[in-house]
Amino acid sequence: MTPALTVEEVPLDIVLPLRSAVLRGGGPAGMPGDDDPATVHLAVRTADGEVAGVVRLSPAPCPWREARAPWQLRGMATDPVARGTGVGRLLLDASLELVGARGGDLVWCDARTTAAGFYERAGFTVVAGPYDKPGVGPHVGMLVELPQR
Ligand SMILES: CC(C)(COP(=O)(O)OP(=O)(O)OC[C@H]1O[C@@H](n2cnc3c(N)ncnc32)[C@H](O)[C@@H]1OP(=O)(O)O)[C@@H](O)C(=O)NCCC(=O)NCCS
Repeated sequence: MTPALTVEEVPLDIVLPLRSAVLRGGGPAGMPGDDDPATVHLAVRTADGEVAGVVRLSPAPCPWREARAPWQLRGMATDPVARGTGVGRLLLDASLELVGARGGDLVWCDARTTAAGFYERAGFTVVAGPYDKPGVGPHVGMLVELPQR
């Protein structure tokens, strides 16, 4: 049986280890704005409390589309041993729900081209790129507009 997964808002120190391991090769993983009061960090935990996935959300202008209240999604990472089990999708769904609940009308991200299909499954579309991020590789600009509440 698949163990239950939960998603919750967490402090920065909870997300940093997985972010570092998956996205920074074990190196420093802090990002500008991590401590801003409006920034939200989400984590998925397994039934035994292990952090299986993390993401960060913060209000930020979208580079590609005008929006009333755009938010940026960054630092999406799931534990390699848990890939393909719905951890990432749970984080994405929770992210869109959270942003909508806080009045946001659009979520955008710089997506690694290798992850673009993952975001597309949740409703994002490619609107820019591909472009290179030095040291990381090719990315595309992606966004999803949220239904008005
Ligand atoms: C991309 C990532 C977050 C996906 O997490 P995950 O927990 O494996 O995703 P899920 O199991 O919830 O998958 C949800 C759906 O997306 C699909 N999917 C997952 N990764 C995918 C990828 N890289 N490309 C295309 N589709 C993908 C799954 O098959 C699943 O499809 P389904 O709904 O049809 O079954 C994870 O692979 C990861 O951390 N990668 C390394 C870091 C990274 O690239 N982060 C994103 C930076 S922009």
